[in-house]
Amino acid sequence: MLFQNTYGVDLGTSTIKIYSQNRNKSFIEKNMVAVRDKERVIAVGNEAYEMFEKAPASIQVASPMAFGMIADLASAEASLYSMLHQIDWKIRFGSILYFAVPADITQIEKRAYYAVANGGRLQNNRVFIVEKPVADAIALGIAPESPKGNMIINIGAQSTEMSILADDRVIISRMVPLGGRQINEAICGEIRRRYHLHIGTRTARRLKVAMGRMTDTDGKEARKVVGIDSLTGLPKEEVVYANVVNDGIMNCLNAIGEEIRKFLERTPPQIAYHIAKTGIHLTGGSTRLPGIEKHLAAVCGYSFNLSGLYDSCTITGLEKIIKSKDLQKWAKPLKQRKIKDRNGF
Ligand SMILES: Nc1ncnc2c1ncn2[C@@H]1O[C@H](COP(=O)(O)OP(=O)(O)OP(=O)(O)O)[C@@H](O)[C@H]1O
Ligand SMILES: [Mg+2]
Repeated sequence: MLFQNTYGVDLGTSTIKIYSQNRNKSFIEKNMVAVRDKERVIAVGNEAYEMFEKAPASIQVASPMAFGMIADLASAEASLYSMLHQIDWKIRFGSILYFAVPADITQIEKRAYYAVANGGRLQNNRVFIVEKPVADAIALGIAPESPKGNMIINIGAQSTEMSILADDRVIISRMVPLGGRQINEAICGEIRRRYHLHIGTRTARRLKVAMGRMTDTDGKEARKVVGIDSLTGLPKEEVVYANVVNDGIMNCLNAIGEEIRKFLERTPPQIAYHIAKTGIHLTGGSTRLPGIEKHLAAVCGYSFNLSGLYDSCTITGLEKIIKSKDLQKWAKPLKQRKIKDRNGF
């Protein structure tokens, strides 16, 4: 088709990342939608995020995704449409969309990706799906073909996906509902416990990015925050120390580490042996936390290789797949009629 464009789409709980082949560039924006009176979309993306935790009760601001999966079709479509429109102001009908999807996903959940790309204002698009761990592996230069096995962990905003790739496929994959948002909530919990102060998750995220560190620090760094005193119910200003923030982060990271340990116990021994030698590949936006790989290594007893791609890992893999004929085998077409097939996509 004359003006057909190809896009790679990573719909994340916190951000949506899109690669446009025409522009040969990737774009990232908050995956948030603000809806008034449960129907009218009034803001999308970064603009909607600005309203998060500040909007009046009649406006709901939420991500269309929950725990790495599409939770609200209409909002997901609004978010995707708005971003595609920003990238290519004249969206052509009949584009090709490559979606990164979790490896362990049901037929119904796959159907949601098709519906998002062909639901309302987006029409006549061809849809391909690529398993996220495969996209991550390709971005990191790991061959999914290797018979010895490689393990990849992506810690995102509301999900940690752990997968083992061997012999050209994802042999085991598990997604646990823990990520950056749960880390933020753990920080809120720790501050509530130590200072009797309620803070919002946006403030917790700010503290995490500013002071979160899993390396040895003296913990003396501090930030002023404003919250609600849980005893009096009145606003209060408090100086929060880094060690309190890091204790909160650690509570959540220990839970993630424990899940990784359990997952490795289920891994076939020869593969686990190889993974122990090569190390576990670690990626996702939440791995920006300094020292996270050392902390997880201490909890699980395996070594970790931290990727420098962080949240852009999956979209980089999609970009490589879109650009290379040899890698096309990793993209499976998703057709509406075929969705009911018992095996395959
Ligand atoms: N410097 C930082 N330190 C710690 N965490 C960070 C930092 N920067 C970003 N994050 C966290 O990374 C997360 C976003 O990562 P990512 O974009 O990989 O998630 P996502 O793909 O939107 O979510 P999911 O894969 O769970 O659907 C957010 O929770 C954010 O708080
Ligand atoms: Mg993600």
